[in-house]
Amino acid sequence: MSDSLTLRRPDDWHLHLRDGAMLRAVLPETARHFARAIIMPNLVPPVVTGAQASDYRDRILDALPAGMQFQPLMTLYLTEETDPDDLAAAHASGLVTSVKLYPAGATTNSASGVSDFDKVRPVLERMAEIGCPLCVHGEVVDADIDIFDREAVFIDRVLDPIRRATPGLRVVMEHITTKTAAAYVRAHEKDLGATITTHHLVINRNHILVGGIKPHYYCLPVAKREEHRLALRAAATSGDARFFLGTDSAPHTDAAKLQPCGCAGCFTATNTLSILAEVFEQDGALDRLEAFAALNGPAFYGLPPNEETITLTKGAPVSYPDHIATDEGPVTVFDPMMPLHWRVS
Ligand code: NCD
Ligand code: ZN
Repeated sequence: MSDSLTLRRPDDWHLHLRDGAMLRAVLPETARHFARAIIMPNLVPPVVTGAQASDYRDRILDALPAGMQFQPLMTLYLTEETDPDDLAAAHASGLVTSVKLYPAGATTNSASGVSDFDKVRPVLERMAEIGCPLCVHGEVVDADIDIFDREAVFIDRVLDPIRRATPGLRVVMEHITTKTAAAYVRAHEKDLGATITTHHLVINRNHILVGGIKPHYYCLPVAKREEHRLALRAAATSGDARFFLGTDSAPHTDAAKLQPCGCAGCFTATNTLSILAEVFEQDGALDRLEAFAALNGPAFYGLPPNEETITLTKGAPVSYPDHIATDEGPVTVFDPMMPLHWRVS
């Protein structure tokens, strides 16, 4: 087995960069290794209009340290009031790459999301017409649905009906966490892809709950049983073009995570590539890491893969900082609980 691996420079198809001091602190962690990322719009207030996306893109580019190259791919936050014309113009100009659907109340800063899916039907139809993909946070929020079942129920009750009612709509099932979701993707050839996070390839729900509660492993959708983690690993390492990397790296300060009602999100931007190389090597699939991290995503979005390459080399365990400092307070870096031998050189 060779101890050097060169791949096209990867992209992150689901990333939270936040704003202000947090943005300035976390952006270099991604830009160091990734060429592009789909930027989540769940700011407070959310990024709803083309004008807001344009301003946010400017703030991201202003925060990029000199000498770093990075292209933010902007998204709009879908609300029941989204104007199809504004969206279509923002997509046609190249400003906006996709639209993000949050069921209202499903996750961090999702209060302005969608409750009545009939209200967004005209927008979804317009998106199908113009070829603008929909990125979906696939969880129902009904109080009577167990949190571990939210994804599977969403597929039946919301996602499948939306896809049937809107032929041609291209959908990315974001951060899938179940074998049910992986199987749904596999069963549909056309217009469907899924992102998988780094952390969901590593943790199951025991890591959150056994031996004391571990807030840094709490994210949404919440990690499920081991059989689901194994199904995600099989999907990610399969080379199947419908599965690609979306880290969902979601920084929150330790103060926001470590409290009686702590925030959801794992911050993985810093060490994601080393973790992925370790995971793919464990599964005998290092030769498919490039497909997952650098080829399948651009192919789904109709973009060329990056021309530049990165090289990973294997050696003594690499150490990453436990946390990164921000002017808002420290942000803990995801601990994969295993030595990482691959460094990005
Ligand atoms: C994300 C966040 O913090 O913005 N949190 C998370 O647990 N993934 C929101 C999201 O993507 O659900
Ligand atoms: Zn997210």
